[in-house]
Amino acid sequence: MVKIIFFLIPMFLYGGSDLYKIGKNLYFSKGCNGCHGISATGTNLYPALAYRRKPFLISKLKDYRAKKGSTQQSQLMISFAMALSDKEIDALSTFLSEYQENKSNYKPDVGARGDGGS
Ligand code: HEC
Repeated sequence: MVKIIFFLIPMFLYGGSDLYKIGKNLYFSKGCNGCHGISATGTNLYPALAYRRKPFLISKLKDYRAKKGSTQQSQLMISFAMALSDKEIDALSTFLSEYQENKSNYKPDVGARGDGGS
């Protein structure tokens, strides 16, 4: 078991770095920063995305892309997620889950996290 983990960690780090950069560029070129903020920390209206778990981010984005949403606010996200490919969703989720732009001044706003996927 331990061996497997030591084998996977370097692969994960290596494989992740390019995707991270692609995701970062997409985050800004697709305008995600306009609502979720330049540091992906969200606001009182929009959920924080940085440091959220990758499988959660992927499943939310795929749901929105399939026009599935659980709140009135979801409509806003659906129009943005509809244009995303699987690869773009993967890259964006990598960037957001591994977020390492400004850890020192990140303050999670627990009150603004969407429906938390429930
Ligand atoms: C027009 C504003 C707006 C833009 C632009 C936008 N979002 Fe969102 N996003 C929202 C809102 C509002 C919600 C909460 C929706 C809900 O309640 O279902 C949300 C929710 C999410 C969630 C789920 C978070 C949670 O806690 O449930 C993810 C992931 C997400 N957005 C990613 C993105 C990405 C990636 C982009 C860029 C492609 C993006 N968003 C662009 C407004 C926006």
